[in-house]
Amino acid sequence: MTDKMITFRETCNILFSQEESYGSQRQAAQDLFSLLAGIIGYDDNQPQQEQAKDCFLPSGKAISLQGAARCLWEFARTSRFLQGVEAAVRAAQQRFPGERIRLLEAGCGPFALLALPLAIKFQSSEVGFTLLDIHPHSLEAAKTIVTALGLQDYVNDYVQADATAWICPDPLRPHVMVSETMQNALKKEPQVAITRNLAPQLLPGGIFLPEKVRVDFCFLYWITNEGEVPFQRTQPVATLYELRLDNPHDPLQGQFTLPNPLPENIRPGLCTHIQVFGDCCLEENQCSLTLPLRVKGLELQAGGTIHHEYIMGEVPGFVLTPG
Ligand SMILES: C[S@@+](CC[C@H](N)C(=O)[O-])C[C@H]1O[C@@H](n2cnc3c(N)ncnc32)[C@H](O)[C@@H]1O
Repeated sequence: MTDKMITFRETCNILFSQEESYGSQRQAAQDLFSLLAGIIGYDDNQPQQEQAKDCFLPSGKAISLQGAARCLWEFARTSRFLQGVEAAVRAAQQRFPGERIRLLEAGCGPFALLALPLAIKFQSSEVGFTLLDIHPHSLEAAKTIVTALGLQDYVNDYVQADATAWICPDPLRPHVMVSETMQNALKKEPQVAITRNLAPQLLPGGIFLPEKVRVDFCFLYWITNEGEVPFQRTQPVATLYELRLDNPHDPLQGQFTLPNPLPENIRPGLCTHIQVFGDCCLEENQCSLTLPLRVKGLELQAGGTIHHEYIMGEVPGFVLTPG
């Protein structure tokens, strides 16, 4: 085994584990970043122009190679997603006995981070990956990593395409799909549009990750304590939307009633909960995707109605208006 593969194996093992400490997962994410960035010749302090360029699609922002590479630093996110993907592939093996599991990573970025680490858990006869991204530089980088680590047998295909419109050839329909193309409160990036396009293309009985993303409306309040200003939130007032495999076409709008009286000193906010797979979840504040998001400019009236709508478009996100 090469030195690169030894480091890959050791760092990924730590990220897959549920037992490792915060510190060791953080270190593993940094070491894995150094390894993979070194392989593709990426310098985070001096990225080339095309590596730092986001791409703006009709369905939202596809972040640059740089942005996608940096996702690895969010080690709690990376770790939970890896644990979820491993569990999903094991579940797919139960559901499709004897079949080689086809896994699509939609939005693989330069490191194909939610697919390639599975190579330390499964044989290439058990699982094969389709790596898809809109950014040609990211896809090229993923290919370089696959070759450098000798993982060619695991890869079925590289696809440069918009995941919100891509149609999978029928004989290659995946057993498992994973896409992490989101920010908190499903803003800016195209997770909803990607899920709506891809989830129906799974094999019947297939698994889409994350399994559920729920966005709740809640009240945020600030606590001032010796100069620190942490904030907390109340129990959710209403669930605005739950993105799931079995409801990708549910309505994106609705309304709810505010309590009467309103609690004091609060601000409206959106909270995000991600169920990656089974009991593998990202709870509030565990990573940037689950940070509460303040809703600015919304006037609250005790007992009043709030209309909400999730807008799919160049800048996806929730719009809330009093009604
Ligand atoms: C947040 S990064 C995730 C990278 C990697 N999957 C991970 O989890 O570390 C999202 C990736 O999705 C890609 N992406 C976003 N929208 C896309 C779209 N509509 N079609 C294809 N790729 C897209 C971006 O280019 C970026 O590489």
